[in-house]
Amino acid sequence: MSLNGSIRVPSDKSITHRALVFGMMASGTTRIRRPLLGADCRSTLDAIRLLGADVTEREDELIIKGVESPRPARLDCGNSGTTMRLLIGLLAGYDGTFELVGDKSLSKRPMRRVNAPLREMGAHVTGDMAPLVIDGASLKPIDYTLPVASAQVKSAVLLAGLRAEGTTIVREPVLCRDHTERMLPLFGANLSVQKTEMGRVIRVEPSRLTGATIDVPADPSSAAFFWAGAAIIPNSSVTTTDVCLNETRIGFLRTLERMGADVTISNERTVGEEMIGDVTVTTSTLVGTTVEKDMIPAQIDELPLFALVASQASSPSVVKDAAELRVKETDRIDVVVSELSKLGVDITATEDGFIVKPSRLHGGSVSTYGDHRLSMMLQIASLVTDETIQIEGLEASDVSYPRFREDLQQIQRDIK
Ligand code: S3P
Repeated sequence: MSLNGSIRVPSDKSITHRALVFGMMASGTTRIRRPLLGADCRSTLDAIRLLGADVTEREDELIIKGVESPRPARLDCGNSGTTMRLLIGLLAGYDGTFELVGDKSLSKRPMRRVNAPLREMGAHVTGDMAPLVIDGASLKPIDYTLPVASAQVKSAVLLAGLRAEGTTIVREPVLCRDHTERMLPLFGANLSVQKTEMGRVIRVEPSRLTGATIDVPADPSSAAFFWAGAAIIPNSSVTTTDVCLNETRIGFLRTLERMGADVTISNERTVGEEMIGDVTVTTSTLVGTTVEKDMIPAQIDELPLFALVASQASSPSVVKDAAELRVKETDRIDVVVSELSKLGVDITATEDGFIVKPSRLHGGSVSTYGDHRLSMMLQIASLVTDETIQIEGLEASDVSYPRFREDLQQIQRDIK
């Protein structure tokens, strides 16, 4: 069994969420071409509709007519942390009362990291875990240094800053994904980014947004599963096309290169505010590596997958400084260690990461714990051994990649 062929994985989750939210705030029409319509982005789409945006779904395109003042509403963010955190920042400065709820996993995730800076701006948010109630208030600007490298926190403060009474400043000592800063100016926001020795400084002025057209590239966090599979499953070579190559997103690809993977990037071009291209990964011998410090944010969502890849390398690997993994859809340190151990991987949890040694994978019964990234990582694991791996909760992958199983089967068929 090997993976061979070319695939355009579904579009980027982070970019689709942002285009939806900005489109809701904007006057006029926003077009989102090739949006991702997985469960997480559906949560954002349903929320902006309830708030009063008019959204038409065409094949491969969403057309949004924004709303001047969102309607008070109860919004179900489902499993999506990005939906909830962006909406808190968005709604904090509008008149009205908004209730935000989420599923079991989201209701355990920390919202104080967003609420704390927003409260400094004068926002009225009740609850630091879902359900939350936001009573819109007038906001004052702040000068805020991000204590955690979180694009969701950064984006929430910038969204609130659009409606504050002066210049809001966000200082970012460790760079994390920057789609918000790239995309907001396309909607007419007055925003600037300055690079300094202490990291980046983002300034946003109160701005009224106007509609824009956004082309959404393929999601590198989804392509990563095929890159990993191609790297570790013998005789494989997979090309993923139109992938977002934003450096704040492709840390995992850089890690694979450092491990000795055979990676080729071609057809590089700029679309809208993002660099995109085609990425080919071909099987090769990998060595272990360490992923730490400021390397973490650019591959935070791929670290469960890294654990699997590292188990197939010829020397040990370490992940540290990644305690954020514990507050994702699941505690991704505990869950990755428990499930991969069941398959024979020599992996040990630490407080802020894990240590993986070269291992021979065998069959077993594992669970996704409802976590989409776990589901897809375990499906790739099942191709590494001839023995059977039973995965409970496969459908979790619908959150970011509804047709993952079919696409994976397709690329296996390509070799016959
Ligand atoms: C995201 C930011 C990251 C990432 C998540 C999507 C975003 O979370 O893990 O999948 O779209 O802003 P944090 O902001 O919590 O690091």
